[in-house]
Amino acid sequence: MRRSARVSADYAEMLMQPSVPMSTAAAREIVTILKAEAGIRIDPSNTQFISYRLDRRVTALGMSDYDQYLLHLQSAEGPAEIQRLVESLATHTTSFFREKAHYDWLETVGLPKLVETGAGRTHPLVVWSAACSSGLELWSAGIVLDRYSHRVHGGLRWGLVGTDISAAILRKARLGIYSSSELSGLSFDLRSEYLLRSKPGARISPKQRVYRIAPALRNRAHFSPANLLTKLEGHVPLADVVFLRNVLIYFTGEDRIRAIRNVMQCIRPGGFLLLGHSDNLRSLPEGLTQAGTAIFRKD
Ligand SMILES: C[S@@+](CC[C@H](N)C(=O)[O-])C[C@H]1O[C@@H](n2cnc3c(N)ncnc32)[C@H](O)[C@@H]1O
Repeated sequence: MRRSARVSADYAEMLMQPSVPMSTAAAREIVTILKAEAGIRIDPSNTQFISYRLDRRVTALGMSDYDQYLLHLQSAEGPAEIQRLVESLATHTTSFFREKAHYDWLETVGLPKLVETGAGRTHPLVVWSAACSSGLELWSAGIVLDRYSHRVHGGLRWGLVGTDISAAILRKARLGIYSSSELSGLSFDLRSEYLLRSKPGARISPKQRVYRIAPALRNRAHFSPANLLTKLEGHVPLADVVFLRNVLIYFTGEDRIRAIRNVMQCIRPGGFLLLGHSDNLRSLPEGLTQAGTAIFRKD
């Protein structure tokens, strides 16, 4: 979908009146739960956004106000419902080759350095997308790795790991099926090399066609749920390159450091951490050295 069309569709939906009204007090409680669980901050005065995202769920539960919903969050079903709440309020915006400079760096600097020190030979070279959303960031890295590996004499051993707090978005990532509107950022050459296309059927228009990531990438990828605010060591294999992009912006300074520390435990010494270009950090945890724009090397 073109950007202007999407913006107007979102706008139209935002203007729809939620069927369950939300008070500022309820919004405040909801954002407090969200922050404690996932680190994600949302302004509680933005009741329109919060109720727009939660209205369908609260209606499906047959509830007529948010006081009932808040009680439900404290009940025995609370933990599962809080997970749903996080899934409804998290933002999953992503695209192929977003912030392309990182992929150029990976191909020309990062991978050569890592391979020089034995990655891909003495151990499988692992790239981890630590807030992978629907997977486009990880598949983009996979494309770079696959192409690089074919150029290296004898090839490389490598794998891809994707984690996210949202189980729903991970199901989509694992499936690797996307609509044509999700392919922007991927050149036509790369599309024909790394995507399988649904057969044109009598009733399928080009716009409705779907595309699936080719087995060459899918067979190397492993996806699992992981919350950046919890201990990750032992849940995620040691990685050589970690993409931790466009998620820390939602966190407080304290939670940003906490998430980076948790991620650092799963990076090999000499491996790299890539942050989003707008994930401004005032200070860095010890043990990281800046190696480029929003690129850090673990000592
Ligand atoms: C805006 S997307 C960024 C996707 C991708 N990294 C990129 O830059 O294109 C943010 C993702 O972070 C995930 N997320 C938010 N809080 C998280 C947490 N505490 N732990 C793990 N993932 C989280 C969301 O579910 C969402 O998929």
